Amino acid sequence: MKNNRLIIVSYRLPFAFETVNGSTTLKASSGGLVTAMKSLDFSNAAEKPVWVGCADFSRRTWEKYKHLVNSDFEYIPVFLDRKIQQDFYNGFSNSVIWPLFHYFTTYVDYQEKDFVAYQKANEAVSETLAQLMKPQDIVWVHDYHFMGLPKLIRERQSDATIGFFLHIPFPSYELIRILPQKCKEYLLTGLLGADLIGFHTNDYNIHFLQSIQINLGVQHKIWKVNYQNRFIQSDAFPVGINYSLYHDSYDNADVVEERAALKNAYKGNKIIFSVDRLDYTKGVMQRLDALEAFFRKYPEWTEKLTFILVVVPSRDEILKYGERKVMIEQAVGRINGKYGTLIWRPIVYRYGSVPFPQLVALYTACDVALITPIRDGMNLVAKEFVASRKDHQGVLILSEMTGAANELSTALHINPFDENDVADKMRIALEMEPEEQARRIAIMQRRLKEYDVKKWANSFVESLLNMHSAQQVEP
Ligand code: UDP
Ligand code: G6P
Repeated sequence: MKNNRLIIVSYRLPFAFETVNGSTTLKASSGGLVTAMKSLDFSNAAEKPVWVGCADFSRRTWEKYKHLVNSDFEYIPVFLDRKIQQDFYNGFSNSVIWPLFHYFTTYVDYQEKDFVAYQKANEAVSETLAQLMKPQDIVWVHDYHFMGLPKLIRERQSDATIGFFLHIPFPSYELIRILPQKCKEYLLTGLLGADLIGFHTNDYNIHFLQSIQINLGVQHKIWKVNYQNRFIQSDAFPVGINYSLYHDSYDNADVVEERAALKNAYKGNKIIFSVDRLDYTKGVMQRLDALEAFFRKYPEWTEKLTFILVVVPSRDEILKYGERKVMIEQAVGRINGKYGTLIWRPIVYRYGSVPFPQLVALYTACDVALITPIRDGMNLVAKEFVASRKDHQGVLILSEMTGAANELSTALHINPFDENDVADKMRIALEMEPEEQARRIAIMQRRLKEYDVKKWANSFVESLLNMHSAQQVEP
C-alpha cells in the first residue's frame, strides 16, 4: 500500500458542522464505518490518503470552516443537489437497501424517483473520482450507498484498482429477489465492477455469490467470479477495532474520573449498559421486553440493578426512525412506572451521542453489556466493550444475529426474540463469578487484539492488490 495512494469513498464523512449560538464547531459522525476508517494509521503512506464522501453542509460552510477539520486525510466532499441527496439517502439507501438487507421486508418503501436519485448520486461520485484518480491509486468503496459505483469507475478507467466493502449484512438471495429487476441488476453488476468485494462474514459472502448466480447466471469457483473477461474475488474480512485505543483508555485520567463518578452514582447497584444508534435493527424494543421479563421472573433484583440505555440519534428524517424513538420512550416510561419504586428507577435513558471518554467509562463501569440486535452486519460496540475491559471483568450478552457473534465466542449468546432466554442470561451474567468473567473476556480479547482494524485494512488492501495484479496476467 506504501506506494499507492488510497482513496476511500463512503457516504458519511467523519465530521459534520454544528452551529450553536452563532458559533460553528466540528461534530464527529457516528457509526461503525466511520469508527473503522478513522482508526487506520496512514503515517507510513507515501501520499496522504483521500476520503470522498457526501457533504451534509453547504459549499459555503465548507469553504469557511474546512480549516477546522484534521489533516489525516484530504477530504473531498461531494455536493449533491438537495432533492437528489434526500431521495438517495433517506429514500433508496435507507428505505430500500437498509431494511431489505436487514430482513425488514415490510419496512421497504420502494419509489422509482429514489432509485433514479441513487443512480445519479453514484454517477456524481464517479465523476468526482474521475477528476481525482491517478493510475496507481487504490479506490476503496464502502457500503450500500455506492453499490453501483465500482462499475461506473471501471467504465471510465478499465484498469483501475477497485475494492468494495459492505458494512451491513448481505441477505439471502430470497431477499434480493424482492427488488425490481432493474435494481437488482444495477446493484449486482455494479459490485462486479470491483476487483475485490469484501463482507464481514462467510455467510454474507455465500449469499452474494448465490445472488449473482441466481439473478445474473454468473458462476463462481472458490470465491472467484469470472465476469465479462475479468476475475473478481469475493471474500470475508471481519472488521476489527483499534484494540489498543480502547484497552489503553481504561487508565486515561478522564476515563478514570468518569468511571468513578458512574460507580459512585449507582453505588450498591449492578449496572447493565447498552449503546446503539436509534435503529429498528438494533432490537431496543426486544431488549426492553426482556428487561420486563427479567423483573417479572426475578423480582428479588428490584432496587439492585440499573440499566443505562443510551440511544444515539440517527436518520431522524425517516418515519420509521422517528416512530421508534416514540416507542422506546413510551416503553422506558412504562417500565420505570411499573417496576420502579419511590427511590429507584430501573432504566436511565439518554438520547444523544456520547463523547469518547464517557463511552469508555460506561463500557468499563458496567457489569453487563446487553447487545440485542435483530440483525447487524458486525456490531463494533460489542468488540469495543470487550477490548476496554483491562480489568478482565464484565459480561457480554450478545445477539447471535450479529456478525460479531462469530468471533466473540465466549459471550453469552442470545436470540433477541426469546425474552425468557435473554432474561435468564441476564441473571447468569449478573451472578457470574469474577474468575469466569475473566476467562471469557481474555479469550475474546486475544482474538480482538490479533485481528484489529489495521490487520483488517491491510489484509483487504493486500488481497485487492494481488487480485488486481492477477487480473493483468489471467486471460
Ligand atoms: N459511537 C458513536 N457515537 C456515540 C456512541 C457510539 O460514534 O455517541 C460509535 C461506537 O463507538 C461504535 C459505532 O458508533 O464504534 C457503532 O458501530 P456499530 O458497528 O456497533 O453499529 P452501527 O452504528 O455502525 O450500525
Ligand atoms: C452503519 C452503516 C454506515 C453508516 C452508519 C451510520 O454503520 O453501515 O454506512 O454510516 O451506520 O449511519 P448514517 O446513516 O448516520 O451514516
